[in-house]
Amino acid sequence: MPGEAPQPRVVVALVAVGAAPDPREAAALTAAERRHADGLRDVVAAPFVAARALLRRTLAEVAGVPLATVRLGVDPHGKLAPAGPLSGWHCNVSHTDGLAAVAVARGVRVGVDVERVADDGDRRCRRVLPSVLAPGEATTVDGAADADRLPTFLAIWTRKEAFLKGVGCGLTVEPRLVDVGPSGPRIRAAPHELEPERWCLHDLAAGPSHAGALAVAAPDAVVDRRPAPPVPGRGLPPGGAT
Ligand SMILES: CC(C)(COP(=O)(O)OP(=O)(O)OC[C@H]1O[C@@H](n2cnc3c(N)ncnc32)[C@H](O)[C@@H]1OP(=O)(O)O)[C@@H](O)C(=O)NCCC(=O)NCCS
Repeated sequence: MPGEAPQPRVVVALVAVGAAPDPREAAALTAAERRHADGLRDVVAAPFVAARALLRRTLAEVAGVPLATVRLGVDPHGKLAPAGPLSGWHCNVSHTDGLAAVAVARGVRVGVDVERVADDGDRRCRRVLPSVLAPGEATTVDGAADADRLPTFLAIWTRKEAFLKGVGCGLTVEPRLVDVGPSGPRIRAAPHELEPERWCLHDLAAGPSHAGALAVAAPDAVVDRRPAPPVPGRGLPPGGAT
């Protein structure tokens, strides 16, 4: 309809992460980012480089600007914020063993989280469960069949962290004060200052080894899950959208 605001659009991309930083991906980073990565152990540097390169390439592609013009600032809590020609855009990144994810949108806040399904996850999930889950969530996880317990916990956890990262407070807010449940678009409860009613949750199909979720501060946003933009010098994208 004429005069109506366009429907907000969020682009999400995921990429597989290798054991060491990929120099072809590192080429998309700024000199400061490359220096930062050089000071990290490979196990930390590889996901950092993959996520930053994916973020810069995705922003450039979606906003239609040259890669070299993508500038990133950081807010006082540590959340990245596109700057310069991309001011007014929002983004978030997450990286874990084997996978990185980014979300970008114009004029809409976004948060993303991915986690690896670890071999010892069930034991760890039982240990951390009471401290991070809202009572209703803990009941859901406790009541899950053995094989479903860890996937249920990780679904809840990634949804919760995506929301807290979208807001920008991260884990400075007690996670157990936020009740997202294991599925569905709405946040069931959260401190009112986080304005949970504005947010919508989307589960990301991240493959058998990972769980992932996206939070968007717009209930009517269209979510566009994309293949990672190609890395020059590499034949095929090293991962894919889901
Ligand atoms: C942000 C936080 C949730 C990250 O959790 P994690 O599971 O370890 O890591 P993820 O891979 O999912 O996310 C990492 C990314 O989150 C982003 N991030 C950092 N702080 C963030 C925040 N407050 N909100 C949203 N995103 C944030 C960063 O871009 C980071 O990636 P980078 O270091 O490569 O740039 C967690 O570290 C946290 O809440 N910290 C508390 C915030 C804090 O202490 N800030 C210090 C300044 S007040």
